[in-house]
Amino acid sequence: MANFHGLTFCVHTFGCQMNKHDSERIAGMLEGLGALAVDTVEAADIVVFMTCCVREAADVRLYGQVASLKNVPLRAESPLAKRVVAVGGCIGQRDGEKLTDELSHLDVVFGTHNLGSLPALLEAAIEEGGHHVEVLDSSAGFPTELPTSREFTWTAWLPITIGCNNFCTYCIVPYVRGREKSRPLEDIEREARGYVEAGVKEITLLGQNVNSYGRDLYGAPRFVDVLDAVDATGIERLRFATSHPKDLTDAVIERFATLRSLQPALHLPVQSGSNRILDAMNRRYTREHYLGLVDKLRRACPDIALSTDIIVGFPGETEKDFEDTYRIVEEVGYNQVFTFIYSKREGTPAAKMVDDTPREVIQDRFDRLVDLVQKKAYEFNQVDVGRTVPVLVEGASKRDASILAGKSPKNQTVHAAVPQGLSAEDLAGSLVNVRIDEARTWYLSGEVV
Ligand code: 5AD
Ligand code: SF4
Repeated sequence: MANFHGLTFCVHTFGCQMNKHDSERIAGMLEGLGALAVDTVEAADIVVFMTCCVREAADVRLYGQVASLKNVPLRAESPLAKRVVAVGGCIGQRDGEKLTDELSHLDVVFGTHNLGSLPALLEAAIEEGGHHVEVLDSSAGFPTELPTSREFTWTAWLPITIGCNNFCTYCIVPYVRGREKSRPLEDIEREARGYVEAGVKEITLLGQNVNSYGRDLYGAPRFVDVLDAVDATGIERLRFATSHPKDLTDAVIERFATLRSLQPALHLPVQSGSNRILDAMNRRYTREHYLGLVDKLRRACPDIALSTDIIVGFPGETEKDFEDTYRIVEEVGYNQVFTFIYSKREGTPAAKMVDDTPREVIQDRFDRLVDLVQKKAYEFNQVDVGRTVPVLVEGASKRDASILAGKSPKNQTVHAAVPQGLSAEDLAGSLVNVRIDEARTWYLSGEVV
């Protein structure tokens, strides 16, 4: 067993919640072996990059950041002769040895299937020097027996599936995260119960497509059973991400009306509003089907906050296709939309499609969409003015220690003055009622009552 007493580390994370969660597992393992977490690469003897290759920008940035580490001196008190640098996650999985060929000062590369190997790889790099690369084709089991070190003590991510079987034509994820694997229901319940006992207030179930949970284990999707089981642990707030519209069932929709802990917020990526583009993306639903789901969700839970992901400039997208997307955003009235410009990923089917829309045209569509998104988010938030909402406090707002910041049930950021005699830190992790006085595009503000 490796021993990292006296060493410091930092984990630099790119990408999705799954990566953030994997980083918490890495921190948990390294702390368990005696290492101390620090915030900056300057103070760190070991630097781990958890990488993302969903879009090209993060990809390029990673290579640049690892390269520039060469010029950052090791702290004077370090017991090591040189800093140990590791790259893991999706780029590690995709590029393997190519990384150490291009970045000679990189010591360790690992992939998405072997987080648990990291301590041994780091130890080998420290003791023997040289490059240590381990990338596996698939994982033996569900890698959640590893400890975690969570950023906030009152909220936890709980992975229920890993990998993806959907092969949307633009997406690299199935190639770097592998086929979908579900975690046995008993394991999920046990972990959730442990969190409740430890005082956790909010659990977010994680998976690339949580709706198909259980297909591999039980022959049929059983996501509803996971929702019911985790609710029964007594958790205060329950959320989940991500949900593929083709697999969202009526039973799950109905839980937004009936399940005590399930919060009125759903991330439901639409990607495009054009049936022609949805087909080319291999999304396997139509805009009509999607709008039907929105209708059912609003009937089950009139106040539900819907968020989504949209790709602008998919190969062959015409002005008419874009208008269909624009109209769906108008119609649904999302409270948050993550907008992306299509990024070509080698190895995906879309990379071979004719892609001749001029860059300026795509940028113009993107800008128009962002304007609409902001307008609709502003409108969505107005309904809460005058209401009192329970807010799970995260701490002080970034700009002002006298203002607390937290999350409403609809996952809106809420700001309020810290009550006299208390600090934002005292309140972190607790629920307070806030009367909303003002609603902006990205946050609500009010007074603790
Ligand atoms: N280009 C742009 N956006 C992408 N996404 C996934 N792959 C690509 C790509 N090649 C977006 C999708 C997905 C989100 C996580 O990232 O909208 O839902
Ligand atoms: Fe990628 Fe589609 Fe799987 Fe989401 S569902 S991870 S977009 S392939």
